[in-house]
Amino acid sequence: MTGQHKRVFIRTYGCQMNVYDSDRMADVLRPLGYALADAPEQADLVVLNTCHIREHASEKVYSELGRLRDVKTERRAEGRDLTIAVAGCVAQAEGEEIVRRQPAVDIVVGPQAYHRLPELLAEAERKAAILRHGKRRPGAGVLDTDFPAESKFDHLPSPQGVRAGSAFLSIQEGCDKFCTFCVVPYTRGAEYSRPVEAVLAEARQLAAAGAIELTLLGQNVNAYHGEAADGATWSLGRLLRALAEIEGIARLRYTTSHPRDMDADLIAAHGDIPQLMPYLHLPVQSGSDRILEAMNRRHGRDLFLSLVDRLRNARPDLALSSDFIVGFPGETDADFDDTMRLVEQVGFASAFSFKYSRRPGTPGAALSGQVPEAVKSARLAALQALLGQQARDFNVSKAGTTVPVLFAEPGRKPGQIIGKTPWLQSVYAEGNLRLIGHIVDVELTEGHPNSLAGRIVTHAHEVAA
Ligand code: 5AD
Ligand code: SF4
Repeated sequence: MTGQHKRVFIRTYGCQMNVYDSDRMADVLRPLGYALADAPEQADLVVLNTCHIREHASEKVYSELGRLRDVKTERRAEGRDLTIAVAGCVAQAEGEEIVRRQPAVDIVVGPQAYHRLPELLAEAERKAAILRHGKRRPGAGVLDTDFPAESKFDHLPSPQGVRAGSAFLSIQEGCDKFCTFCVVPYTRGAEYSRPVEAVLAEARQLAAAGAIELTLLGQNVNAYHGEAADGATWSLGRLLRALAEIEGIARLRYTTSHPRDMDADLIAAHGDIPQLMPYLHLPVQSGSDRILEAMNRRHGRDLFLSLVDRLRNARPDLALSSDFIVGFPGETDADFDDTMRLVEQVGFASAFSFKYSRRPGTPGAALSGQVPEAVKSARLAALQALLGQQARDFNVSKAGTTVPVLFAEPGRKPGQIIGKTPWLQSVYAEGNLRLIGHIVDVELTEGHPNSLAGRIVTHAHEVAA
């Protein structure tokens, strides 16, 4: 123990859910006297909040753990200590294996057990003390990777994380879809929706703390089916309508969705709710029915295309984003062609695309017909060239228009600030730092592959100081 002035460094890998969870861990640790550190070297406790979706993510974690072991060894030589915790989906998926591979790890904690961090820390400190006094050899770290019956949401403190007017709100966790490539159903567990009242209360609290944009989070967020106080079950569409009523909330977003859960009410919500931003991340993964079937996606190419039509009918300026996997086992040139044609047909404003990586324990890992690395690389390059062109075209198409931008942070050059358009494009403009956290009208002057240049047109007096 180093007394009251303890410091924690949290490194976050992967998705926005992990960013949210890292903030919650900081909230749990604050009452224990932990302030945030900027680097592992300054910290008494380092938490790696890990991602297991793709292979290299967990390898990165192990190499980071190797570096932390060295820091810990140096510390011990000075008579001090460094506590190392592994959280997130690698912790959930690999459990004790982490401590076997890297014995310097003190705590392994799965995403459902963050509220137990104080207990786990106390136990790790007790073990370390026993070790220091040489009474007995320590066990293999302290582990909690159970899926408890109650929700972690009931135990974690309310979020404080409003950054520049923007906040995440986790409304759903886990997934029951079991896509054959994906670890999420195993690492995050069964689909769970937070009760409506808890979500609304947190949203009001965030609005009161200055949030004007809320991004609802969940691994399968549009599967949301939260229980309301009167026992009714609310869908995501209904929840969005209620959130839009909260004073001060100017922007709503949600991520990540599954095509099968895009119901009529949610599609209609895109037309009805002015605060719901005209941008939707809707992973399709592949354009080939054969591969979609092998992925157990429970939707075909036509369902996806018809959703796109219906969404664009509801909200004509909707920008679409998606996830793609190339080189799923059995994917032929013809299957890949189907993906390219789907991309051409839809036109995406942005996208994430990946080479298939075998995740142990998922059905896909055992499939025959694994695609050679070189083929995957060639397909990924072709797909990314097309998606990159579409993203650029989309940005260029907005040049010359004036749009509301929520400024989020200072730019790289002095005097510049960076914000987001309704379509989640990054815009940089000359502007006062005072505008950060505000929505300001910006004339977009130039479209680039990953951003736009703009000129602020709102007069300063129109923006609340
Ligand atoms: N290999 C490659 N990409 C994957 N994803 C999930 N699992 C894998 C895997 N085994 C991608 C999917 C998903 C995104 C978050 O990560 O495209 O939508
Ligand atoms: Fe994974 Fe998404 Fe499929 Fe769920 S729906 S198994 S999170 S890819």
